[in-house]
Amino acid sequence: MQDPSGGKTLYQRDAESVARAEKLRFFPLAATAGDGVRLRTADDREVLDMSASWGAASLGYGHPAVVEAVTRAVRGAASASTLSGANIEAVELAEHLLALTPGGADRRVWLGHSGSDANEAAARLIARATGRPRTIAFDGGYHGCTVGSMGLSAHPALDLSGEDRPFVVPWPGADGADVDAALAALDDILERHAAAIGALFLEPIQSDAGVRLAPAGFLREVQRRCSAHGVLLVSDEVKAGLGRTGWLHAFEGEGLEPDLAVFGKGLGGGLPISAVVGPADVLDVEWAYALTTTAGNPVCSAAALAVLRTLEAEGLVERAQTVGARLLSGLQASADAYDVAVEARGRGLMVALELAREDTNPARSAGAFVARCFELGLVAFYVGEHSNVVELTPPLILDDADCDRALEIMDQALGDVEHGRAAAPDPALFAGW
Ligand SMILES: Cc1ncc(COP(=O)(O)O)c(C=O)c1O
Repeated sequence: MQDPSGGKTLYQRDAESVARAEKLRFFPLAATAGDGVRLRTADDREVLDMSASWGAASLGYGHPAVVEAVTRAVRGAASASTLSGANIEAVELAEHLLALTPGGADRRVWLGHSGSDANEAAARLIARATGRPRTIAFDGGYHGCTVGSMGLSAHPALDLSGEDRPFVVPWPGADGADVDAALAALDDILERHAAAIGALFLEPIQSDAGVRLAPAGFLREVQRRCSAHGVLLVSDEVKAGLGRTGWLHAFEGEGLEPDLAVFGKGLGGGLPISAVVGPADVLDVEWAYALTTTAGNPVCSAAALAVLRTLEAEGLVERAQTVGARLLSGLQASADAYDVAVEARGRGLMVALELAREDTNPARSAGAFVARCFELGLVAFYVGEHSNVVELTPPLILDDADCDRALEIMDQALGDVEHGRAAAPDPALFAGW
């Protein structure tokens, strides 16, 4: 039989078939299978996945609860949607999310496929319900890559020209802004434009901006000011939510009570599903106003239900706290030992290693570090307005032994980068953000 690969590697075939526009590549990862916190690569290596596919694989790969739920749902699928009929998986998921998310009695759940579509739907529904179409974002905020969700974002990697732009407030600690300056900027926007502003979108921990934690109490002040002006607060929990920070909701760690919460990524444990939880007068504002054909399909809804139940059954929110603390302190010890590292920071299993801004020396960059980690058997990517922050969002099932193995690899990779033993990746192929 003819070799269907034509003798090419999986990575080469991907380069020749799948669009670059949807790729964010750091090294030539090509996976053929996954099991728990590990991926098997096409060249038959096992690598420890400390990204979990950007947090989507919240229970790792092949978790029995997800496998069982999806298998059952796909066999007996009652429709492929919630568009023109109710199905039990979507209804149970919505009921579960309502029970898990704090808020008033009269709320609903909107279901979608990605963080991008959910943020976009939230913004459109809020605009429709309030008659106030504009939004506020934080500098560096990332809420997605559809036209609508880019229009809520202020991340420099996006091509933001031409969209309806949000009003942008500086994030304290970034580029010299402090809490007072950020709140003064917010006050100014609210005083002048509140009548046109329906909502402020925030990430409780900014992820793609560089895993930036808010100073204590800052986001509560933001919420106080927004509610004084009738501006709704939307917590984008897509990356940091559902257990990752050691709180079920990342907004809880900030003492927030958002009007709407947006979920994605880890909600589906690797399957595409997103959700907005919010007041009925927003999400019920009009029939058929924010819809997609396969939203609420039983298979993805069953996966999400399995994820939510497993978080509770396996105590994974609490685990994120304890394993996260172990990861953070080990990483800080490595950061202290090498000049190329600035600091480790994070909350729960959302952890970052910031490296020096070596714009002029690719061999000492985050790119060289993650490429070296990959050679040594670990997957992690970098983020940040200056592309120098390595983000660790491993599966929430990470155990102590694998945490320690990850720390060993990263310590070795830091030493190799520091001493010039790591090669910088070709920027034409592996440019990251
Ligand atoms: C905080 C946040 N919101 C929204 C999104 C968009 O989610 P998706 O890529 O699933 O559309 C992301 C993705 O990185 C994110 O980190």
